[in-house]
Amino acid sequence: MIAIYPGSFDPITFGHLDIIDRGAKLFDSVIVAVLSNPSKKPLFSVEQRVEQIRYCTSHLANVKVDSFTGLTVDYAKLRDAKVLLRGLRVLSDFEKELQMAHTNSTLWTEIETVFLATAKEYSFLSSSVVKEIAQFGGAIDHLVPANIVRDICNYYQNKT
Ligand code: PNS
Repeated sequence: MIAIYPGSFDPITFGHLDIIDRGAKLFDSVIVAVLSNPSKKPLFSVEQRVEQIRYCTSHLANVKVDSFTGLTVDYAKLRDAKVLLRGLRVLSDFEKELQMAHTNSTLWTEIETVFLATAKEYSFLSSSVVKEIAQFGGAIDHLVPANIVRDICNYYQNKT
């Protein structure tokens, strides 16, 4: 069974990587799908994010990384996948995630969303938290892999 793990991943964190690691054990293959959303102003381009995630997941033979635009269910159909994988951190995630899962199932009745509880050590972690800390020069090496630390440092150094 193929699972799609959709998201912004701007940038990918240890929390996301934990979900990918565990998802790869549960499903035959996992496609990490980076949303290309022109209305958002991301830190990293979609191409950069795809490259970053490929590097971080290269040890997982059944994980592929791709990008998509438009509706997640349309991308899932394109890939012949009927499962969406999402991580749940805290209660505040639940409302948004349930709304998304229900919306997606109205768009395509065959789609199932499978939630994995995020590892408790990453329950506070988000891409926004990482960017906020990095912006002010704080340490992020306990939150994201080394290639992301390097890319974020380069980003903020080139900005000033
Ligand atoms: O990492 P994020 O930002 O929480 O991921 C959100 C994402 C990409 C999964 C969600 O915004 C999404 O699926 N967007 C594509 C548009 C879509 O399919 N919308 C209908 C479901 S609400």
